[in-house]
Amino acid sequence: MMAERFPIDKLQLIETPFYYYDTELLRETLDTIKAEIRNYPGYEVHYAVKANANPRILKIIREAGLGADCVSGGEIKAAIQAGFPAGSVVYAGVGKSDWEINLGLDLGIGCFNVESLPELEIISALAKGRGTTANVAFRINPNIGAHTHPNITTGYAENKFGIPMRDMESMILHAAELPNINFVGLHFHIGSQILDMDDFIALCNRINELQDQLELHHIAVGSINVGGGLGVDYHHPDQMPIADFRKYFRTFTKFLKLRPGQTLHFELGRSVVAQCGSLITRVLYVKQGDFKKFLIVDAGMSDLIRPALYQAYHKIENITSDKPVETYDVVGPICESSDTFGKAIDLPGSARGDLMAIRSAGAYGEIMASGYNCRSLPKGYFSDELEEYVD
Ligand code: LLP
Repeated sequence: MMAERFPIDKLQLIETPFYYYDTELLRETLDTIKAEIRNYPGYEVHYAVKANANPRILKIIREAGLGADCVSGGEIKAAIQAGFPAGSVVYAGVGKSDWEINLGLDLGIGCFNVESLPELEIISALAKGRGTTANVAFRINPNIGAHTHPNITTGYAENKFGIPMRDMESMILHAAELPNINFVGLHFHIGSQILDMDDFIALCNRINELQDQLELHHIAVGSINVGGGLGVDYHHPDQMPIADFRKYFRTFTKFLKLRPGQTLHFELGRSVVAQCGSLITRVLYVKQGDFKKFLIVDAGMSDLIRPALYQAYHKIENITSDKPVETYDVVGPICESSDTFGKAIDLPGSARGDLMAIRSAGAYGEIMASGYNCRSLPKGYFSDELEEYVD
């Protein structure tokens, strides 16, 4: 039982399923990030809002002084509403609509991470029409793989993201001729849930090559943005509640050859918020099948889609039982066989009414919830506000 981590008496009073966020762990994670980059004044971390846009989470992250990385007009609005300064917002995405670009222009966001030539031309035209100038970085596809799930690699040439390397120079030269465009830097993102630092070293090496190439043509680059992607330990959320940010930042310090005056930007999502969130669900039924025992819980793939979509592992705990261990398939109520949180999981003997915690669900959990099967969206509750909810 993980009673220490979960205030069970209070959680028992909340209607399941719901997300429970440990704000203390979130703050510790943010303090660790800040401590690690303190010695590097040119480093700036933008929180990837796509990982979790719960307003309270955004507010805590903004209070810690991180910038925001957005991929839609909706995310830009959420970030601004949470108090992120517009200048700290970077905005990526292969398909930016005109209204989204205009929103970014009107707010004066820090940078558009541009992914194609037609997009650059539209940003230029819209900026001209509004009498303003857009800061742009070019998202370059570095054709580098990452040792992660195929659905979440983004840096291969076959992926839809970024500008091919061979077009980089002509794009930069073209940008210099376009009205109302200010070229500020290069942007990269190779994938997510990356634990092997060799992948980031490969990215650094590629960026070094590209910078050498640009220097031959006397093209100056103000900033390098290496995206996000640092993974977390889904198997041991309590042993490794905070990702190894030291190793991560030091990899870039060691292998990336920044030019004098260049700033280095990071866009971290998962590693900031994954471990502080759990999906709390209640056992509805224990069903004996022909070959196995099913624990049917009241959360489903509409609340947390990662296991169904990426075959992702999330540690599952029964936080209210200490009976002898049995083996179960833990499944949700939704009419899809993929609505399964875990197969052949050893858990304390479980019964109707027990509370389960599906761990490491703070990133790409609540934000990816859907109304499939006409289910309600799950709510989020915070460790330091529980008194208010349950009184
Ligand atoms: N920057 C860009 C341009 C991105 O596309 C992403 C994530 C990030 C930053 C943040 O990456 P992170 O630090 O969180 O790895 N839904 C999937 C993950 C999709 C990630 C998409 N891009 C999942 O649940 O695993």
